[in-house]
Amino acid sequence: MLKGRNLIKPDDFTVEELDSILELGMQIKENPEKYNKVCEGKLIATLFYEPSTRTRLSFEAAMNRLGGRVIGFSDPSASSTSKGESLEDTMKIVSNYVDIIAMRHFISGSANQAAQACEVPFINAGDGENQHPTQTLTDLLTIKYYKSSLEKMTIGLCGDLKYGRTVHSLAKAMSRYSGIKFVFISPDELKMPDNVKEDIGNTEYIETKSLEDAIPELDVLYMTRIQKERFEDIDQYNRLKDTYILDLEKMDLAKEDMLVLHPLPRVNEIAVEVDQDPRAKYFEQAQCGMYVRMALIMKLLGL
Ligand code: CP
Repeated sequence: MLKGRNLIKPDDFTVEELDSILELGMQIKENPEKYNKVCEGKLIATLFYEPSTRTRLSFEAAMNRLGGRVIGFSDPSASSTSKGESLEDTMKIVSNYVDIIAMRHFISGSANQAAQACEVPFINAGDGENQHPTQTLTDLLTIKYYKSSLEKMTIGLCGDLKYGRTVHSLAKAMSRYSGIKFVFISPDELKMPDNVKEDIGNTEYIETKSLEDAIPELDVLYMTRIQKERFEDIDQYNRLKDTYILDLEKMDLAKEDMLVLHPLPRVNEIAVEVDQDPRAKYFEQAQCGMYVRMALIMKLLGL
C-alpha cells in the first residue's frame, strides 16, 4: 500500500511496490487521456532549492495532466527561506496548503530532514549528491519499456560516479533484480563510492577507466555529466570534464540493441551526432519521467 507514504530513496519501496508504479506508468504512457481527471481537486507543491528543467517541469506537467493543480517555487531566494525560515517550518506550512510535496535541495540528507516535518506525502526530487529516486523510476520505466524486462542484463554506468546521485540510486535499485551485472566506468577520481558498492550487495560489478573496452558487452549504457557544481577544485573539473565523449565511432563498437540513456542535462559527454542513432533513447527517457511521476503521484495519493 503506497497511499500516504514518502519517497526518499528507491529502496523505501519493495520491488513489488516499484513494479506496481512502473506498471501504472506503462498504462498511462499507452493511454494518457484516460487519467486526465483522476487528480481533480488535488494540489502538489514543487519546492526547488536547486536548478532543474526535467524534474520540476515533469512533476508539474504530470499533475496538470492528471487534472490537478500546482504551486511552488524554483527560486528559493524569493521564499521566506531567505529570511531564515527553517526547512522544517517551510514543510509544516506548505503541508497546510497541498496534498503532496516534491522537493529538490542541494544538501545531501535534506530530503529525510524535510520529510520528518512534512504532514502530507513527500517526494525527494534530488538531494545533493545523495539520491534522486524519481529519476530512478524514470530509468526503470525506460529500460522496461525498451528491453521488456529489468533482469539479466549488463549495465554500464559511465562518467561521474562519485557525485552523480542518479547512478547511486539506479545501481541500488537495479541490484534488486536478478541477473544484473554492472560495469562502473570512470576516472579514478570519480569512482563509485564504497557505500554504494556495499549497498548493491552480491551483484556482480567490475570497474574500468575505458569506455571503449567496456562498450561491446553492454545492454544499457548510462552516460552521466561530470557534476561541475559539486567540485571544490575547478582545475580538477577542467582536467576531467571531457574524459568520456560518446560518439558514433564508439557506438560502432556496441551491440545493435544497446540502449543509450542519460538523465540529462548533457554537456559534452554525448556528441550530438549520436542523437540520430536509434539506440539513443535519452529524450524518450525524459518523457517516461513524466508518465512515471503521474503514476507515483496517483499511488501516493491512493487514487
Ligand atoms: N535529470 C534531471 O534531474 O534533470 P533536471 O536537473 O533538469 O531536473
